Amino acid sequence: MLIGVPKEIHHDEHRVAVTPQSAERLLKLGHSVVVEAGAGGMANITDDAFREAGANVLPDGRAVWEQADLVLKVRPPEPHPTHGAHEAELLRPGGHIISFILPAQNPDLLQRLQARNATVLAMDAIPRISRAQKCDALSSMANIAGYRAVVEATALFGRFFGGQTTAAGSMAPAKVLVIGAGVAGLAAIGAAGRLGAVVRAFDTRLEVRQQIESLGAEFLELDFEEDGSGEGGYAKVMSPAFIEAEMDLFAHQAMEVDVIVTTALIPGKPAPKLITASMVQSMREGSVIVDLAAEQGGNCELTEPGEVVVRHGVSIIGHTDLPSRMAEQSSLLYANNVFHLVDELTSEADGSINVDMGDEMIRGATILMAGELTWPPPATKAPATAAPPPAAAGGQAGPEVEVKDKGLNDGIRSAITMLVGGAILYGIGLYAPASFMVHFTIFVLSCFVGWQVIWNVAPALHTPLMSVTNAISGIVVLGPLLMVSDSSLTVVVLATAAIVLATINIAGGFVVTQRMLQMFRTS
Ligand code: NAI
Repeated sequence: MLIGVPKEIHHDEHRVAVTPQSAERLLKLGHSVVVEAGAGGMANITDDAFREAGANVLPDGRAVWEQADLVLKVRPPEPHPTHGAHEAELLRPGGHIISFILPAQNPDLLQRLQARNATVLAMDAIPRISRAQKCDALSSMANIAGYRAVVEATALFGRFFGGQTTAAGSMAPAKVLVIGAGVAGLAAIGAAGRLGAVVRAFDTRLEVRQQIESLGAEFLELDFEEDGSGEGGYAKVMSPAFIEAEMDLFAHQAMEVDVIVTTALIPGKPAPKLITASMVQSMREGSVIVDLAAEQGGNCELTEPGEVVVRHGVSIIGHTDLPSRMAEQSSLLYANNVFHLVDELTSEADGSINVDMGDEMIRGATILMAGELTWPPPATKAPATAAPPPAAAGGQAGPEVEVKDKGLNDGIRSAITMLVGGAILYGIGLYAPASFMVHFTIFVLSCFVGWQVIWNVAPALHTPLMSVTNAISGIVVLGPLLMVSDSSLTVVVLATAAIVLATINIAGGFVVTQRMLQMFRTS
């Protein structure tokens, strides 16, 4: 299959959908790659780099569109400024395209692509399921946007983010409030924390508390019983009473903090207006607001999408192109996401493409299949996190009874398990030899203690826990240490090898654990 990569034409779009590294990997899948000259220029990727990777570079962008069986892009197709046609109309009839499409906002684009009998996969429609993480461009771009939001804020904020004590005087650290702790919000929390700011964050989904706290920030709590966790790992629309209580919290915070980064959004809905003009007015002069939801209308009443405005002495940043402002990095990650999607579609060694609608990820991303509208896809499964019992309308009696019943059932279940377990042990004890019972009892107790210890470890810390367990398992080094002075040369050699391997295990395990824990700490 011939894959085409045209130069992005959207104003101020500096990213490119394929990098030389990803082009090389696409070639290995059995595809050919043709790139429009200058496509990677703004992301510091030269045409020669594409050529060296094995791609063909064509000076004529129209030819790239017309020849390619599959076009890879970043921005949704739009009218081309020089070719005198809409990009959708440049796609060859029956062609394939993978790009951001934003189908809900672009019905006209869908019609144009339908007219070409196109097969269209939208990077913005990849479902947020574990298997699809490698293709999740919304997350990889939001991660960059969150980081860049803090960088933009530091540029306009007239003070250090971190506190300092010098001979010239002491400076208090900046206070940063992050609203919405999704991918972008968490990246902003991490970046602001690493710069030394005091970071607070709020989200309607209570499950993110642990993630916020593991980044060293404070989770702001609302005395209001409503959890915002919705379907597919996304938030749900909150009740007006909740939004009112939340805004009351922000009104108090606005008077205290120096920087607000807002990322609150529910996919497919306009951004909730959470920061009012009067809150902006109450902020200290020189404060900064970065509104990441600017493109969806903004979380701040005074945001102007795509602009930086100063209102009541507060700079309000409404950039809608934050990932593009780090084009080299974002092209690299986006190209990886796109490559993984193409890889999933390439089922045959001959490089042909198979859009398997039985695959949950492909089904979710497919907007048009040979011109036929397949969007929106059926709803994805709810996230695996346990939801609290729903609040009964008009009172709390319902849930309380449910909780008690559940507690009772759990109690009966564990009593039965213990009785059955005890009976099995008694049965084994009656017939097994005494020496076996000693070892068996130690084994059962160690399983129990291990389970109790691990059960209470936060899921975010499971990976470091595994590596530290790996390090501790190096205790087997005691065996070869005892054997190394044996009279047999073979035993000495084997014991020495075992000591070396176990030492690598111990040292490596602790070093890796230390590094992983470091990622959760702010300096
Ligand atoms: P996400 O869906 O992962 O996170 C949004 C978070 O907002 C969720 O955690 C949700 O629970 C929270 N939220 C929703 N309603 C809320 C409310 N009323 N109060 C407090 N929190 C609330 O989304 P992601 O990927 O982190 O993106 C965040 C925003 O950044 C989106 O608006 C996205 O379009 C935008 N974005 C902007 C870019 C730019 O260049 N300006 C680039 C990339 C993303």
